Amino acid sequence: MKICVFGASGYVGASIYEKLKHVPEATVVGTYLSEPALIDELYKLDVNEPESFSNFFKNEKPDVVVWAVMSGPNEHKLTDQGLMHLMTHLTPQTKLVYISSDFVFSHGDGPYSEEDPLSNLPDDHSFSNYTNAKVKAERLIDKEFSNYVVLRAGPIYGENEVGKLDDRTDRLSYHLSSNQPIDFRDDLIRTFVHIEDLTNVIEEMVFNDVTGIYHVGPDKQQSFYEFMKASAQLMGYDETLVIKGSEQEEVDTEIPKNTSLTTNKIKEVSDQKFR
Ligand SMILES: NC(=O)c1ccc[n+]([C@@H]2O[C@H](COP(=O)([O-])OP(=O)(O)OC[C@H]3O[C@@H](n4cnc5c(N)ncnc54)[C@H](OP(=O)(O)O)[C@@H]3O)[C@@H](O)[C@H]2O)c1
Repeated sequence: MKICVFGASGYVGASIYEKLKHVPEATVVGTYLSEPALIDELYKLDVNEPESFSNFFKNEKPDVVVWAVMSGPNEHKLTDQGLMHLMTHLTPQTKLVYISSDFVFSHGDGPYSEEDPLSNLPDDHSFSNYTNAKVKAERLIDKEFSNYVVLRAGPIYGENEVGKLDDRTDRLSYHLSSNQPIDFRDDLIRTFVHIEDLTNVIEEMVFNDVTGIYHVGPDKQQSFYEFMKASAQLMGYDETLVIKGSEQEEVDTEIPKNTSLTTNKIKEVSDQKFR
């Protein structure tokens, strides 16, 4: 089986690429954009470039595509160009595994189930680019395809398959190892998912026939403050250095408050036990 991981130099993409490399029945190719790539053998490709995308895709002819690209403020381009190029090349036989985000529930009054309606942010909101691009991507995929899995995740944490930590934990251990306090907000509630658990689910989805939309993660819903305090304790640091951050916000930069996810549905199709 031929699998193509787009964004294989990223935090999530590198993890799934490395994992699949060791599966005997899989041939895996991965793409990166910025130098230096996290993994040597990746193929340099801008997914927004129609000609190079087309050449790459026609050459590789994958059976499964894992779409793990992200570009924050340029996320719209990734949906309007990159994803559109992908959609013109996918055949009904090619399975798409698309990694989405809890930010599609930008009203922030969760917990949310898979059936809850998605919401856009106003165009002048600082997170609108990322949020609205993800909402648009999910709607496009659902309208145009049936052979897909959308996996929605909250904040992803932990050391990935190539030894890279998520930025938040990295910042936490940097502060605490030098005995400096660090603050996290207690009013932002999320479903935190470990990178290894998520990678295992993506691997399952690559090889099984499951399709549809699934939330990934444990049953737990925690604030950033609660989660980071517990992480500090687990890592053997003084957790009293983790303090509550200010909840004051400027207009148009408000962060969605509760985007936590209910995760019962994934248990019906996956063997993964979430930590
Ligand atoms: N990290 C989280 O906490 C989190 C939470 C929820 C959902 N997600 C979702 O998980 C997915 C992966 O996120 P991540 O954390 O792994 O992000 P990441 O570390 O920033 O990786 C994203 C990758 O996308 C690649 N990319 C960006 N623009 C590209 C383009 N035009 N052409 C080709 N490649 C391009 C980048 O490649 P280069 O590095 O080579 O430039 C980057 O490595 C995203 O869909 C994101 O929305 C992440």
